[in-house]
Amino acid sequence: MSRPQVVLIGPPGSGKTTTGRAVAERLGVEFLDTDEMVEESAGRSISEIFVEDGEPAFRALEADAVITALSTHSGVLALGGGAPMQAAVAQALGGHTVVFLDVTITDAARRIGFDGTRPLLAVNPRATWTRLMTQRRPTYEQLATVSVDTAGRSADEVADDIVARR
Ligand code: S3P
Repeated sequence: MSRPQVVLIGPPGSGKTTTGRAVAERLGVEFLDTDEMVEESAGRSISEIFVEDGEPAFRALEADAVITALSTHSGVLALGGGAPMQAAVAQALGGHTVVFLDVTITDAARRIGFDGTRPLLAVNPRATWTRLMTQRRPTYEQLATVSVDTAGRSADEVADDIVARR
């Protein structure tokens, strides 16, 4: 059993992957992303899983990946944006160092381009992102032990802040 030093949560486009890698580099540990774990274990992309099996099947794989990583990964862990909305995931996050990356839609759009690669954001990406962020924000805030405002800051600046405040 081991535990991640830092777990990153936040919506698509909050920079979980880029910032997570920068935090891991500073701490001299490995970075792991639960979306990648799911894709590797399924041998398919997240979009394919959504299309072929549906969102509930993806969420089941995601919960398994997060819960496994929380007890086996000792570095920095980034969760998919919707993962903390699952009760089993939220419960498993208890006692961990959880960092919420808060982001504006402008920065999120600039970062991910709303390019259709995320199945949940395939239609009306701006309106959908805003609706999801409004729904999810209370959960992100409640689960976070540290909230970081990323507005107008580089991944390196945010990573320095996380290392100092975790
Ligand atoms: C999702 C976010 C994605 C991925 C999946 C669903 C969501 O991860 O897990 O497409 O529900 O917000 P990122 O937050 O890394 O984009």
